[in-house]
Amino acid sequence: MKFQGSHILSVSQFDRDAVTRILDVAKRMIPYASRQKQCHVLQGAILNNLFFEPSTRTRVSFGTAFQLLGGFVHETVGQESSSLTKGESLVDTARVISGYADIIAMRHPTMHSVAEFASGSSVPVINGGDGANEHPTQALLDLFTIDAEMSRFGQGIDNLNICLMGDLKHGRTVHSLSKLLSLYDNVHLTLVSPKELQMPDHVVSILDDAGHKVTITDTMAGNLKSDVLYQTRIQEERFSSKAEADLYRGHFSLNKAVYEQHCKDNTVIMHPLPRDSRPEANELSVDLDDNVNLAIFRQAQNGVLVRMALFALALGVEDKLSQYERDVTWYSNKAK
Ligand code: NCD
Repeated sequence: MKFQGSHILSVSQFDRDAVTRILDVAKRMIPYASRQKQCHVLQGAILNNLFFEPSTRTRVSFGTAFQLLGGFVHETVGQESSSLTKGESLVDTARVISGYADIIAMRHPTMHSVAEFASGSSVPVINGGDGANEHPTQALLDLFTIDAEMSRFGQGIDNLNICLMGDLKHGRTVHSLSKLLSLYDNVHLTLVSPKELQMPDHVVSILDDAGHKVTITDTMAGNLKSDVLYQTRIQEERFSSKAEADLYRGHFSLNKAVYEQHCKDNTVIMHPLPRDSRPEANELSVDLDDNVNLAIFRQAQNGVLVRMALFALALGVEDKLSQYERDVTWYSNKAK
């Protein structure tokens, strides 16, 4: 795949070699993200971050990633602060904003809206989540995390048992991650959700076509002995009312007792975050916070590396990083 100048809209764009390349470039970003060195290869370049739906990690890590490579970041947050509320089309907005930037990261509540926007953009657009459809950069950082965590046990991504749990119907992260896992060999996917919130059929078909074993269930007991357990939040904003979302909260809460009873000794726990910590949901209890297998904060940190890699590849600077290195002049406890 040619990365330079390309939009990144869906994980379906990637073959296994493309994913391997992204993850390799992401590893080369570790010295910069951990402040052993700084890199200014994107000095003068401008990222426009357009976030039309709530976001903490994705928005801030896109901005951080760009700044770690020396670029400037402009942000628009919320539809109410943009001319979309005046009836401007996504395509017109894209024509204008792409004139002000070298690359754009965008999140929007409507499925396929980021692709529509990209059709009007003269610069690469990276999908930061389009409704319940896809979240390609999250899936890449999830895969990076699975690879990094499993390397502790001498395992790669092939042949893993991976359990995805929660709102698999509306969760765009699990849609994109499942599609990426279809590029690997012999993965056993266990999909735990309420019957009404099962993984969409078109995603299950992709896993079936890849020859993966897929188990669909609404029961935790007997189904969590996986290498990786990926918990998700009930996607309240995709339901017609809070009351409807409330029907599904708290059914698959993962806590220390459940982990000890149902998981393997070293099942790696992942979650794209935010976790819903309200008592009625408590989908991932803080009583697991000191479990070494809880990877959620390492996972969020890996988002910076993967997004740095995507910027470098889309802007064609991935082989110039070392030419633009400098020493770090300030004290940083990250570099220890
Ligand atoms: C996810 C999202 O926005 O889809 N969050 C994220 O980007 N890390 C998951 C979620 O909101 O539940």
